[in-house]
Amino acid sequence: MKNVLFTLVLFIMTAMCANSQNQKVLVVYYSWGGNTRVVAEKIKAQLGADIVEIVPETAYPTDYSECVAQARKETKENFRPAIKTKIDNLGDYDVILVGTPNWCSTIAPPEATFLMENNFEGKTVALFVTHGGGGLSRCETDMRKLAGNAKFLKSVVFAGSSVASSDDDIAKWLKEIGLK
Ligand SMILES: Cc1cc2nc3c(=O)[nH]c(=O)nc-3n(C[C@H](O)[C@H](O)[C@H](O)COP(=O)(O)O)c2cc1C
Repeated sequence: MKNVLFTLVLFIMTAMCANSQNQKVLVVYYSWGGNTRVVAEKIKAQLGADIVEIVPETAYPTDYSECVAQARKETKENFRPAIKTKIDNLGDYDVILVGTPNWCSTIAPPEATFLMENNFEGKTVALFVTHGGGGLSRCETDMRKLAGNAKFLKSVVFAGSSVASSDDDIAKWLKEIGLK
């Protein structure tokens, strides 16, 4: 009887410590200038989640105007650049939090490649975007097309200039989508 009681208490305590549905969360992001990385790292810290950065095979130009010119061309042509990042154990995760800068009103091409290359069936996906004034633009709609039959949760956006002080808004969002 004592053993049963002990197991029960242990079970309840574990359930209380884990996120509400005890789900395994992976943060996957692309960042060119660092803003999206700041948000991704904060999410990782708040949830104790795993994190993976998407790295393109060929880095984008470090010059802003050159990068914008390339991004414009790629987004117009729906070009999907090759990425170095392969996530072999995506199947281990229940929830994938996908982070991208808003590039030309949509998700950055390397993040689009990640979404295209992986199967999200049975997964729950939520998007976080950093932007320079355009907000979510078409990021969520385009992400949904690429992630196929996943279950989608509410997206969140952060102005690039506000990422350093985004902790409370991140916490609020994570609570809203049931991860905290
Ligand atoms: C190539 C490129 C295209 C961009 N296009 C947009 C855009 O269409 N709308 C917008 O609001 N911000 C745009 N931005 C600004 C970025 O979304 C913003 O600075 C973001 O926080 C950058 O994230 P990062 O530092 O993780 O790369 C663009 C930036 C770059 C480099």
